[in-house]
Amino acid sequence: MDPKELNALVHDREAAFYDDRFLIDYAHIGPDVARDLRNVIGREPRARRALDVACGTGYAAVGLAAAGLADESHASDLSAAMVERTRANAARAGVDVPLTQADAETLPYADDSFDLVVARGALHHVPDPLRALQEIRRVLEPGGTAIVLAEPTPGGERQTGAVVGLAVKVVETIKRARGVTETEEELVRRHWELASIAANLHTFEPEQIASLAEKAGFEDIEVGTAWWSWILVLGINYYLVGEFEQLAANRIARAAGRAAVNTAATFDRVIADRLVPPQWRHTIQAVLR
Ligand SMILES: C[S@@+](CC[C@H](N)C(=O)[O-])C[C@H]1O[C@@H](n2cnc3c(N)ncnc32)[C@H](O)[C@@H]1O
Repeated sequence: MDPKELNALVHDREAAFYDDRFLIDYAHIGPDVARDLRNVIGREPRARRALDVACGTGYAAVGLAAAGLADESHASDLSAAMVERTRANAARAGVDVPLTQADAETLPYADDSFDLVVARGALHHVPDPLRALQEIRRVLEPGGTAIVLAEPTPGGERQTGAVVGLAVKVVETIKRARGVTETEEELVRRHWELASIAANLHTFEPEQIASLAEKAGFEDIEVGTAWWSWILVLGINYYLVGEFEQLAANRIARAAGRAAVNTAATFDRVIADRLVPPQWRHTIQAVLR
């Protein structure tokens, strides 16, 4: 199947429960996004016109607008359902986010349109990441900043795969011991989960992102790695919410998931991002100018 068609299909389906799987809370989106971006660039960004590329449910675009960090906050995504989710999340947060349904490889914006572009968890889904970075460069005005973050490293992907694989084995063993047999519905869901994994097209070493950014025309390139335990805990939540949809509706389970993810994030910021070797960390974060 064409990788873009696969990505559109998978993300159209995931839009409905994406925020539950990734524990995104639109009630706190402004402070959360301000903190995340401060973590990457060392201070809060301030933009006149910002663009969130491959916005998903609107994390960066809604967050920038809600935190008052952008006068205008635009967003685009390949998936129609994700665009609709962003629209709903923006309305709920009381902010205006102009939207387009668009491929990151051919952005429907004029040259030099934005002074800030954020692409979070985007490039690993795009067949031609160089093309996407060239588009980000093109729509960015001279002197503007692109923030590329949450792109998986090969080492990070291996660790997440191992930890989530272990969680899968534990759940399967418990199910078998209780004599639970797989229903047709569960089988279909399992196929969707495999499609979702297949929609992750790339992992990147920091040097690869730096080289792609240079080829795309960026001149000032800072690439690092971040997060260790946070992604592992998030990966387990992602799997469990996919496996047991009722968990997302259970207030206690949600609160427990959120507490675990927040504890892991704090652990990473205070300890792991300093002590864990860079190649073990899970994601790339880059500031490109
Ligand atoms: C992992 S999600 C990240 C969403 C959001 N940026 C966030 O941080 O939560 C990846 C997003 O990329 C979108 N996507 C996949 N391929 C794309 C493409 N070729 N062009 C634009 N968006 C794409 C998906 O629809 C999905 O919403």
